[in-house]
Amino acid sequence: MAITELDEHLFEAEQFSPGLGTYTLTDDEGTAIIRDALEAGYCHVDTARLYGNEAEVGDALEAAAVDRENVLVATKVAHFEEPEKTPEYVRTAVEESHERLGTETLDLLYHHWPRDGSDVETVLPVLEELVEEGSVANVAVSNYPIRYLERIDDLIGLSVIANQVEMHPLLQQEELHEYVREHGMYLVAYSPIAQGEVFDVPELVEIAEKHDTTPAAVSIAWLLGKEGVVPIPRSSSREHIEANLAARDVELDTEDVKRIESIDREKRLEDPDWMQW
Ligand SMILES: NC(=O)c1ccc[n+]([C@@H]2O[C@H](COP(=O)([O-])OP(=O)(O)OC[C@H]3O[C@@H](n4cnc5c(N)ncnc54)[C@H](OP(=O)(O)O)[C@@H]3O)[C@@H](O)[C@H]2O)c1
Repeated sequence: MAITELDEHLFEAEQFSPGLGTYTLTDDEGTAIIRDALEAGYCHVDTARLYGNEAEVGDALEAAAVDRENVLVATKVAHFEEPEKTPEYVRTAVEESHERLGTETLDLLYHHWPRDGSDVETVLPVLEELVEEGSVANVAVSNYPIRYLERIDDLIGLSVIANQVEMHPLLQQEELHEYVREHGMYLVAYSPIAQGEVFDVPELVEIAEKHDTTPAAVSIAWLLGKEGVVPIPRSSSREHIEANLAARDVELDTEDVKRIESIDREKRLEDPDWMQW
């Protein structure tokens, strides 16, 4: 998929839609859940080499009664081990992702974690080469603070389409959101329901009651209402997966949005001790 097609498909659609987070969805049950989610209408699946479930995503894509052309598959590469900090490691990792996913061209490939910043210099030029070679259609980054986003243009000559970061009502990422929009990038919001913590926030419970829905749906709807933001909730329950997709229909009013904006706690759930935000 080329970048303009991706834009139309995923980000410029008439109505934004949540993607499917797949962390922990493994084995036959994981495959079956992902297949059912595709058949229920998800058209964007988010996996990663680190999740150990690219094969399950590949199997689900093959099994689902949907047109593969209408599904965007995103995976991620990172390299944490010192001896593996090489361009060759990145290339091998991406080849392995292709084999597991059953793809020849990856729709979207993220650099997963920048860690100490030196890997930004190693990984991004390889991703650019992979685009030139046709193995990857679009490059994105994940967990990039602004100081690393600022280095992209000096390292590669292609547009990075998105930054995938943690974002939910308890971590609203205003500054980063503004930066990525100013630079023509999208923000893919992971942990959009704060891994379940939104259920404990009284303001979200009240807004959910007002709309006869759940705090999860309110959080997803709030993210969908922000310019250029695509949430990727994850669930192992078919009922929740369908409810998360249906959050597209929750219409928050200005008062709801103001209340949600007032509850930012800058609470980060994914915060490895080696990462400097
Ligand atoms: N780039 C990165 O570094 C990074 C880091 C973390 C996550 N991610 C991506 O983002 C995806 C989502 O993030 P996440 O898994 O951290 O957290 P999340 O989507 O915010 O929350 C998942 C949790 O919420 C529950 N849940 C989901 N929908 C629900 C609903 N409608 N009602 C009640 N409970 C619900 C799930 O339980 P049930 O299974 O019981 O529904 C699960 O325990 C991941 O799967 C992964 O694809 C990326």
